[in-house]
Amino acid sequence: MLELKQLSKSFGGLKVLESIDLVIPQGGIHGLIGPNGAGKTTLFNIITGLYTPTTGTAAFDGESLVGKRPHRITQLGLARTFQNIRVFKEMTLLENVVVGMHRHLHYGVGGLLFSSGGFRAEERRARDRALELLSWVGLDRQADELADNLSYGSQRKLELARALATEPKLLLLDEPVAGMNSVEKTELMREIDAIAHRGYTVLLIEHDMRFVMGLCSRVGVLNFGRIIADGSPDSVRNDPRVIEAYLGRDEDDDLTQEQPVHLPDLSGDFPELGSPTTMDREGRR
Ligand SMILES: Nc1ncnc2c1ncn2[C@@H]1O[C@H](COP(=O)(O)OP(=O)(O)O)[C@@H](O)[C@H]1O
Ligand SMILES: [Mg+2]
Repeated sequence: MLELKQLSKSFGGLKVLESIDLVIPQGGIHGLIGPNGAGKTTLFNIITGLYTPTTGTAAFDGESLVGKRPHRITQLGLARTFQNIRVFKEMTLLENVVVGMHRHLHYGVGGLLFSSGGFRAEERRARDRALELLSWVGLDRQADELADNLSYGSQRKLELARALATEPKLLLLDEPVAGMNSVEKTELMREIDAIAHRGYTVLLIEHDMRFVMGLCSRVGVLNFGRIIADGSPDSVRNDPRVIEAYLGRDEDDDLTQEQPVHLPDLSGDFPELGSPTTMDREGRR
């Protein structure tokens, strides 16, 4: 579905990604992990058209993504969420999701949100679909509340519902559980799993290894701009290069957080890597 070949990206003299080869087949939940600054978000920015690669190719369903505008890439069936939350705080949850649908709406978002006459059937369909997507992340009962009133964790879920509103085939999630408490993390994990079972392919970046290990069928590890491991959660977990990459980092790194993530029904434990890091509301560590 997604194929990256010999992809590299430099900013000035700084090589951020080097010779990335990565294939994401259709179906399932794929993870991309790696220490802070490894290049994970940069990779998403290239895939979604925000950055152009310095060299190499990126293709989605056989079509090149290089040089395409972000909205065109969305139309091809790729949607993403961001590491830093981007919701419209002064709009309701329902409106936030409907905004994400605009490419499917004949009359445009303005008509849907503000019109009194016309467009009724389409308006109803859009609202029903938005409510359905909100229910997938457990937010349908708050559909008419302002996004600003939501907890940080719920705003992240709202972003996910909005990304789904573009009806993507591949959903890219950049640190979806950053800043969430352990209850929210477990909930979101189940919701992402259910979304994948509905037929969406998911590629998620995560800092919290436990979260990735329990959820993903395959995990790629990025370190200093290179893929150093790619395989089943078990093979990656036991890979000495991966352990080294995580252990070799100090204060600003992951895997040490006050509250361990409780995922009783999911595999994955890293006793040798310590407990996960603290993050503030912005997901900063
Ligand atoms: N637009 C940019 N200009 C210059 N450097 C950048 C830019 N975007 C990212 N970088 C650098 O690329 C490296 C990787 O960043 P990023 O992809 O955000 O890492 P990750 O998401 O894995 O934490 C960092 O050193 C970062 O400072
Ligand atoms: Mg990042």
